[in-house]
Formats: sequence, C-alpha cells, structure tokens
Amino acid sequence: KNIAIIMGGYSSEYKISLTSGNVVHKYLNKEKFNTYRIHIFKDKWVYVDEDNEEYPINKNDFSVNLEKETLRFDCIFNAIHGSPGEDGLMQAYFELIGIPQTSCDYYQSALTFNKRDLLSVLKPYGIHAAPSYYLNLGDTIDEEAIIEKVGLPCFVKANKAGSSFGISKVHEKENLKAAIDNAYKEDDEIIIEAFLDGTEVSVGVITYRGEIKVLPITEIVSENDFFDYEAKYEGKSQEITPARISTIQQKKVEEIAKRAYEVLKMKGYSRSEFIFIGDEPYMLEMNTTPGLTTESILPQQAEKEGISLEELFTSAVDEALN
Ligand code: DAL
Ligand code: MG
Repeated sequence: KNIAIIMGGYSSEYKISLTSGNVVHKYLNKEKFNTYRIHIFKDKWVYVDEDNEEYPINKNDFSVNLEKETLRFDCIFNAIHGSPGEDGLMQAYFELIGIPQTSCDYYQSALTFNKRDLLSVLKPYGIHAAPSYYLNLGDTIDEEAIIEKVGLPCFVKANKAGSSFGISKVHEKENLKAAIDNAYKEDDEIIIEAFLDGTEVSVGVITYRGEIKVLPITEIVSENDFFDYEAKYEGKSQEITPARISTIQQKKVEEIAKRAYEVLKMKGYSRSEFIFIGDEPYMLEMNTTPGLTTESILPQQAEKEGISLEELFTSAVDEALN
C-alpha cells in the first residue's frame, strides 16, 4: 500500500508539522507500507523524494506523475497541524476524491478546530469550560464588558489556531488591546477566557486496534507564565506522565475525554487539554492532529502505555484502511 504523509500546511504551525511528518515517515512500518512525504503549502503541493526532488501533485486525484509511472495513494497520513489539515479542508477533499485518511472526518475536524463551537457543543453533555467572551474581527471592543465577564488575569486566544500562536495571558486591563491585536494575526475570531487556577492536564484518546483507548494522562507544568510556544517547544515546561492527580480526578477526566470523543463520533487521534478546579476538569480545547515528534505529548503517552511510535502510526493507517 502507498501511504502519503501530508505535512506543512498554511498556518504558523507548518514547521512543527514538518517535524511531525518526518517522524511519521521514519517510524511507519516499511515492510507493510511504501511511505511518501508530501508537502502541502499554499503555493505548492509536492511529493518530495529521498533526494529532496519535488514532483507536483495533480489536485484532481492527488496522484503524482513520475518519469515512468503515475503514483497513486491508498491512504493519507495526516500530519498537518492547523489549516488545512486540522480544520476539515483536507478531510473534505480526500472524502470527495475517495482516499481514506488517518484523522477524523471533515465535520469533526472543523468543529473541534473551532474552540468556541467545540466547547458550546460539549456543554450540554456536562463538559465544563471557562467563562468566555467572543469577538469577531470588526466588533467593538468593550474592555469593561470583557473584564466583567472573564475577570483578570484572562487568556486571549485566536479561536482557530494551535501551538499557542496568538495566545496571551493578560494581567492588566492596559494590555488587553495589544493581546487582542496579537490574536487577530492568527484568526479573525477571538475567544477570551477566564484564567483557571489549577492543574493542567493533557489527555490522549485514540482508536487503537479497533478500540477507543484513553492513554496515560500528562500533567503540564510550565516554567513560563502559561504553556506558551516556548514552553511547548523550547523545553520551558515539564510534562509529567502519569499526571500527579488523585484517582477521582483521573477517573473523571478520562471519562470526560472519552465521552467527548464518543459523542462527537471522532476517529483517529485526539488530545484534549483540561484544567482542574477542585475535582472538576474544565476543557480548554481538543487537537485532532496533535504533535507527533518524539518529544510530543501523545507519542510519549503512547510509549507509557507500551505502544511504540511504529505501532502508534501503523495502527492509525490500519484503522483508516479498515
Ligand atoms: N497543535 C500542536 C501541534 C499540538 O496540539 O500538539
Ligand atoms: Mg491546540
């Protein structure tokens, strides 16, 4: 079977995606699958061979004309973080042209990538979120109303983005405007949330060998003011698996992460973030193409569960082909 590993993407997360994609390329079982690296950028969709030679993708069927043959793919391994790999665009395209892919379907991708909509949909299922305030580009910014709703400190976030791009923690009212401007660089929608002062955890839920599985939970301890880009990717945080939480907290957050996965009819990988207020987990967001580098959280959780990178990636393709 020919597997196209798609990586890159149109968002600020493209570099992380290239690392994730190359890790998948390295570990995906080579006896079972032929693996191909595909770069998806705004100005080019190309297959990149082992000599870094680039061949354009035919967008009508995602095939590649090589010198002597046409290369076609049986399955897509999606390693794109952010748009267009995590927001449903690629998923809808592959569904239209009939190629299975490893992440969840287009609707689930679009919904989960939109923090505001995800949290609203999950609320009636008893999944809590922080008090929040929404803005669309062009809306009047009523600082009084925002602070009355969410208090200080608060988090200003791009509604549809990843890896903490566009996120600021605001301690003083004077800094609110700059934080909003910064978030608008990533997205034209903004979500402003109350600061929740509690233990932060990351919960991986995946479909593995036909079963929905909750992986060991990771506790996030940031050395920075919050789990920002530097904390995530430049070692300014500790990620402790299993998390140092009580059995009650563990059972609750596992149950809620799994409930979210099930009610949304997810497939593939998911990694949800929560903060505990007492024993109650509050959901921040869900990632459906989580980081897959060797240091990333989901691969670390899988390893703690006894699932190697090769097994993690290979089973995702097996599931998609099923
Ligand atoms: N958005 C990053 C890649 C993550 O969730 O791991
Ligand atoms: Mg995220």
